Amino acid sequence: MSVHAEQKPWTVPALADAKRAGRRMAMLTAYDAGFARVMDRNGVDLVLVGDSLGMVVQGHDSTLPVTVADIAYHTAAVARVLTRALLLADLPFQADATPERALDASTVLLQAGAQMVKLEGAGPKLEVIRFLTEREIPVCSHLGLTPQSVLRLGGYKVQGREQQAAERLLADARAVAEAGAALLVLECVPTPLARRITEAVDIPTIGIGAGPHCDGQVLVLHDFLGLDSGHRRPRFVKDFLAGGGSVDGAVRAYAQAVRDGSFPGAEHAYA
Ligand code: KIV
Repeated sequence: MSVHAEQKPWTVPALADAKRAGRRMAMLTAYDAGFARVMDRNGVDLVLVGDSLGMVVQGHDSTLPVTVADIAYHTAAVARVLTRALLLADLPFQADATPERALDASTVLLQAGAQMVKLEGAGPKLEVIRFLTEREIPVCSHLGLTPQSVLRLGGYKVQGREQQAAERLLADARAVAEAGAALLVLECVPTPLARRITEAVDIPTIGIGAGPHCDGQVLVLHDFLGLDSGHRRPRFVKDFLAGGGSVDGAVRAYAQAVRDGSFPGAEHAYA
């Protein structure tokens, strides 16, 4: 893809084009205009207003207390300054419990400036994905470690290690793509499984702790800057500020490393 083409604003259909062209996508989370502007001008393709804001901005122990109003507030701030990156916003805990609730919440987030909503899980969420996409709401699915399931999972653990769990995750990935999701985040999934999923679905996969074979990568802003979150530092985190010299430099280095495949390395992945 030419430099000129890279400057064009991202669109939802361009995501599938990028996968077909083998062009890896760099994604970061942002919660305010200042960081979003730096990301937009330094080659980040996708910006996510994640419900991780509950932990890294609000100081909670999980993402469960985050509300649609919280996500909408931060989405509006980020949307004001993006000129090129595609903006995704998370549907927070239980905002996607029914198709109707998900439609109401998604409408709020798209009206705040998001271009796609992200929701966790498959199973009963397949109906939600179908309902939203049939109503012009682009959807990103999130599988593997789904932080909104922390109480059931008993912690933040790698998913899909056993054969049966791996097959279920692969079937879920196929199902969310079939239901209409246009993008798939894979969190904390062993590298060989993330590779199988990436090869099995037409939609791009974005990994976080899912190894180097995904179609793109995402990091939480605070992890990417090396800030102490008060929690154990996950294996997949890399402090790009340490080598980048400035926030602009760190974002440029991250976008470049994702695109050329040098991040994540084996030390950031689960075997
Ligand atoms: O909420 C979030 O920031 C996320 C990313 C970890 C993908 O879901």
